[in-house]
Amino acid sequence: MTDALRSPHPADPLIALRPWEAPEVTSWGRLPMNAVDRRAGALSLDGDWCFQLLSAPDAPVGSAWSSAHVPGVWTMQDTDDLPQYTNVRMPFPEFPPASPPANPTGVYERAVDVPAEWSGRRVVLQVGAAESVLLVHVDGRPAGISKDSHLAAEFDLTGLVTPGERAVVRLTVVKWSDASHIEDQDQWWHGGVTRSVLLCATDPLHLADVTVRARYDGDLRVDCHVRDTRGALPEGWYVTGDLDGHLLAQDAEFDRINAEDDRVSDFLGEARLRATVPGVRPWTAETPGLYGLTVRLHHADGTVADTSRHRIGFRDVEIVGRDLLVNGERVFIRGVNHHDFHPLTGRTVSYDDLRADLVLLKRFGFNAIRTSHYPSDPALYDLADELGFYVVDEADIESHDHAHEIADDPRYLNAFVDRVARMVLRDKNHPSVIVWSLGNESDYGANHDAAAGWVRRHDPTRPLQYEGAAKRGWADPDVASDIACPMYAPIEDCVAHALSGSQTKPLIQCEYSHAMGNSNGTLADTWAAIESTPGLQGGFIWEFWDHGILQRVNDGRPAGRGGAGLYQGGVAAPGHRWAYGGDFGETVHDGAFIADGVVFPDRAPKPVLFEHREIAAPVRIECFRHEGIVLGNHQHFRGLEWLSAEWELALEDGRRLTAPAELPTLCPGESAAVPLPFELPRDGGEAWLTLRVTTAADEPWAPRGTVVCLPQVRLRSPARRDPVPVRNRSVEVDTDGLLVHPLLTAAPTLSLWRAPTDNDELGGMAARWREWGLDAPERKIVDVHRAGGRVTVLADYVCPAGTVRHEQVFTAVEGGILVEEGADLPEVLNDVARVGSVFETVAGLNLLEWFGQGPWESYPDRAAGAPVGHHSVPVDELFTPYLRPQESGGRHGVRHFTLSAPDATGLAVRLDEPRQVSVTRHRAAGLAAAAHHDQLVPRAGCVVHLDAAHRGLGTASCGPDTSASYLVPPGVHRWSWTLRVL
Ligand code: GAL
Ligand code: MG
Repeated sequence: MTDALRSPHPADPLIALRPWEAPEVTSWGRLPMNAVDRRAGALSLDGDWCFQLLSAPDAPVGSAWSSAHVPGVWTMQDTDDLPQYTNVRMPFPEFPPASPPANPTGVYERAVDVPAEWSGRRVVLQVGAAESVLLVHVDGRPAGISKDSHLAAEFDLTGLVTPGERAVVRLTVVKWSDASHIEDQDQWWHGGVTRSVLLCATDPLHLADVTVRARYDGDLRVDCHVRDTRGALPEGWYVTGDLDGHLLAQDAEFDRINAEDDRVSDFLGEARLRATVPGVRPWTAETPGLYGLTVRLHHADGTVADTSRHRIGFRDVEIVGRDLLVNGERVFIRGVNHHDFHPLTGRTVSYDDLRADLVLLKRFGFNAIRTSHYPSDPALYDLADELGFYVVDEADIESHDHAHEIADDPRYLNAFVDRVARMVLRDKNHPSVIVWSLGNESDYGANHDAAAGWVRRHDPTRPLQYEGAAKRGWADPDVASDIACPMYAPIEDCVAHALSGSQTKPLIQCEYSHAMGNSNGTLADTWAAIESTPGLQGGFIWEFWDHGILQRVNDGRPAGRGGAGLYQGGVAAPGHRWAYGGDFGETVHDGAFIADGVVFPDRAPKPVLFEHREIAAPVRIECFRHEGIVLGNHQHFRGLEWLSAEWELALEDGRRLTAPAELPTLCPGESAAVPLPFELPRDGGEAWLTLRVTTAADEPWAPRGTVVCLPQVRLRSPARRDPVPVRNRSVEVDTDGLLVHPLLTAAPTLSLWRAPTDNDELGGMAARWREWGLDAPERKIVDVHRAGGRVTVLADYVCPAGTVRHEQVFTAVEGGILVEEGADLPEVLNDVARVGSVFETVAGLNLLEWFGQGPWESYPDRAAGAPVGHHSVPVDELFTPYLRPQESGGRHGVRHFTLSAPDATGLAVRLDEPRQVSVTRHRAAGLAAAAHHDQLVPRAGCVVHLDAAHRGLGTASCGPDTSASYLVPPGVHRWSWTLRVL
């Protein structure tokens, strides 16, 4: 490090420019964005850099250096500037374009030995991403400025470095700026150099850009943009290409037309490769066939000046009428919103991280990703091409807190166009990218139209969407959105629009089914409507991640990269927890709203994923008719050859029969009947047939034998069996009317409440329940009446809002006790969480085995993906550790269960009909009082809920509540069950 570098900053021209408060300045000295791959032969500058954190960008650089890892955010690397989470509101009060005076600024410095063999070459520095303003110096001399936190910035350093000598590269990263106001996405605020940094060298004659158009019919066009840093292009240069070993020649016709066109000067430097590939394997998300393309730029003597490698896919995307078509097919978009997130590194994600994200999504039936709300790490697009995803690529523009002002503010015009254009220039060659998005939640103004105009001219091959524009009218032809892409629109509104006769654009929700906590109710109903309504094509679930940051409880700091391995299955190791807003001592924050994904912060799947997998099933049981089981192929492009299957018959009496299944040959959209694989046994009670569908061979995203879906059909209904009373035994009930039983530590009482889910809280239900007093009603015994071996107990549950009369009739029956219950809810209690019984057991009953839906958690409006069968799960694993403790662990449609100790003692319960049951270590009140799991003390015994009715989950934390059919109405509820000792 030279002393010059330590001179006070303000003398520096880049600092003097104060670019952090100049929205018009989007860059200086930055090369145009391009799609040329520069990784081969590049020098990685990743690793530990000298680092210091200044209190403001114009504060003097000191002499005390620590170190920071690149790529990485400093907010999770032991500095005093910690992560902060806000949703809409900006974390500082200044209006755009101002930033606060206290403005953490990271100064990164390292020496680089510039290879001697780079002499005479053009040297380029690429900074993968830095937020929010990047200033670059080399040996104290200014090299460039960049904004746009989620895209790379390249700088030509040729004149600043000497090959064979050492250069000192300094990256100054200013956290808050005018740009922060248009990067106001709902996520953690960080600062740092978040993607890889590399240094590379090219010939002065180089490929400035390569644009590939590969059509479904095999038509290939590769446009090369050639530049020479010395000025005029040398005589005789030409390009060649190679597509999987087949040579591509320069398009002479293109050259001839250019030569004859007097508007085109020699300066143009454009050449085209053209070919028609016979028998091309088109690219789709189901069949992601890729071809290797190498583009070479030659000097006149044939030597290669520059090379760029691409993996390309042949496909078309277009909108015809109100349908979005891929290769002519109207495809369903089973999407998710994906942020670049990691619980240890924040915004920095590796190739392996992203691969794991996408592999998991494939396994759970997703075929689409919206890169909410900025261009993702470049690896995501390579993986989406390879594994098969349709991508809505979104520009890094969200001005949520000041949306209206900024959308028309000319000071931000450059930034809008720049961000959208740079994304398109980077990602245009990816077959996976099928739609461009102008950004998120930034109202709609002239700045959007300017950006849209640029995209439409530059890339007429893809549709454009923007929710803020679509909001002006789903069918409005004049807004900058080719797709009606609302967020959280009730499905009834979508259906009504599709049926209205006025729909003009495909309707694909950019966000729907908010996955905060125990959520995603009515997903199956939503998809039933989508699949049966022409004009509806799907949407993107909000969102993939729960953005919990792994935090040490003792000092409250992020665990950072040292936390590797300190979590499993969604649970943080002792002494750690998943931090959400407010956990780093910040006062301005939005709490647990950051935890709203379909996976936990460690990517452990939440139960909703099993629901989604089933809803997206490629092969389904359409119905059961006398000629057999009708199977349908619900894919768009693939047959069933890639799948294997097995039949499983589950009988209520515990028997399970299996048989190999032969899947019929079916084209997409076809169905056919196959014979019933079993002679249904005459006895055994209720019978369910499941088709266990797995991958027949290794897929890039799943080894052979991975479950793809579990479609199911009921072959026989349960037979009614009334318990037989026994005369000579009575049931013991104490003076309070409470059942006395050796295995119960708390007798069954009435429960009307659940620990509020995030949906219950944010949707207002939880407040109403507390106001009604459902969380702690006073139980008043009214009557205990004994007659002929039966004991009838009447109790009133007195809530401030109204009284619920509860009746329990206990009868000794063969093998145990019959409990018949009734509860009468007054009209005022017209929407309660549940009506049912709750009791607690002795310790040691650690295994739940049941016949009902499972094995994973299910609720009345999220029960399409949990097949009926015999399931067995340790009690400790039944509970789902949603980040903020809440109702969880429920199982839907339970007919009977046992709770047992290792020596097979325990209790058995048989319900009168399939009911919602939960067995956990927690009382509802305990869950409701805790903010984090480390505050919960699991009970040794079990807390058991048997619900006559349980309210659906809905998605009211951001979007529609559950539908009316899943509410628990007032009036009389009746249920009964028998309790037996094993
Ligand atoms: C949307 C927004 C997302 C996120 C979500 C709620 O309005 O686009 O970024 O805030 O709501 O979780
Ligand atoms: Mg927002």
